[in-house]
Amino acid sequence: MSTPIFDFAKRYAESGTARFHMPGHKGRKLHGLEKYDLTEIRGADYLFGAEGVIAESEARTAALFGAAKTLYSTEGSSLCIKTMLAVVSRCRPDHSRPPLIIAPRNVHKAFINACILLDIEVKWVYPAVKSTSLCSSGVTAADTEKAVSECDRRPDGVYVTSPDYLGFMADIGGISRFCKGRGIPLIVDNAHGAYLRFLEEDRHPITLGADMCCDSAHKTLPCYTGGALMHISHSAPEGFAACAKLMMSMFASTSPSYLIMESLDLCGDYLEKDYRQALAETVSRTALCRERLAGYGWKTVGDEKCKLTIAAVRGGISGDELGDILRSHSVEPEYTDPDLVVLMTTPFNTEEDYLKLENAMASVKPKQGAPARFDEIPEAKVVMPIRQAALAPCREVDVDEAEGAVCGMTVTSCQPSVPVVVSGEEITPEIIKILKRYGIFRISVL
Ligand SMILES: Cc1ncc(COP(=O)(O)O)c(C=O)c1O
Repeated sequence: MSTPIFDFAKRYAESGTARFHMPGHKGRKLHGLEKYDLTEIRGADYLFGAEGVIAESEARTAALFGAAKTLYSTEGSSLCIKTMLAVVSRCRPDHSRPPLIIAPRNVHKAFINACILLDIEVKWVYPAVKSTSLCSSGVTAADTEKAVSECDRRPDGVYVTSPDYLGFMADIGGISRFCKGRGIPLIVDNAHGAYLRFLEEDRHPITLGADMCCDSAHKTLPCYTGGALMHISHSAPEGFAACAKLMMSMFASTSPSYLIMESLDLCGDYLEKDYRQALAETVSRTALCRERLAGYGWKTVGDEKCKLTIAAVRGGISGDELGDILRSHSVEPEYTDPDLVVLMTTPFNTEEDYLKLENAMASVKPKQGAPARFDEIPEAKVVMPIRQAALAPCREVDVDEAEGAVCGMTVTSCQPSVPVVVSGEEITPEIIKILKRYGIFRISVL
């Protein structure tokens, strides 16, 4: 396996060339990584016009993931999400009306931003089994079919977030079969699931039939923060692969980070060599940890093999409080909220990490039979299009004064950046209750 981007950067760094180009540190040591931080000089290729080392590295990664085309992003899945929606918008057969996308409500904020920028209309899917967390949807193929049948026109895409922030996985295979039968592209936010391709049973969305997906390589693979992959499948509609780079360049910086690209490049090499075995060991160790937590009386939820989502509230303690206890044992979780604690595992967690976590959890005695406090996520009352409301003049008010008003800029909690209320929706008493639960006390209204 070759590592063309990193090889180029290393050769250049060792060549003694005087750098009269960006970045300003000129490869001199300050933090220690500077000599490999480049800009798009001759030989280093261009991310959005890739024909050299970047194209070579992306093609190698595409082959590794079984994709027809893979694009590197140095601005996370957030950039890939906007790109995927722009690709669908551009390639749709009928341009007489704004693009229409079907999506369950647990979308990341980047999806809403794309709707604002691209003037996308959204038909939200509310699954038959109501979700009790902002972050999860539980969407099925049947829910998707029902939502499509309720549209007054053929949607331009179905968009699903799986795995979600809490480790629940949707039936991508089933949803993809439905979409293929109707000729509707399926787009998957797989930000949390880059590793799924390398499990004993490959559960990556591209393998399961998605037309496009994004993987935040930095979330579950050894990549620098911001490193992400956008994959287009061999069976994606014509035109997707051809316009994808152009669409990505509309939203991206013209100074992509070479350090991040090099980490994606090196990561590809690692994935091909040692990763499958290491991942299998992580899956087993995570399962053992889950068993041990159950033995101490803790309930975990979710289906992901490399995530531990502890339903703290069912043990009589809030997720945020349990998070603080973990921190006092030098364990930093990925996320906590009033109900849950989320922990992510990779082959780079050591046995000592797992033991620290298990000891910390053993030090707290969960109350048996404590009730879950999850609220059902209410259906949105849409008053006007997302773009129109987001770009309208707004004012900020206390959430208690917002009842009955129309939301201006979409409100998400800081983590996990899933909307509580979307631009153009009425702010109801149920929404106000959820906003407060997530610590949000001010809101922009029209
Ligand atoms: C479900 C989901 N999608 C997309 C994103 C955005 O990913 P990135 O941080 O790589 O831009 C996140 C980030 O947390 C996420 O949780």
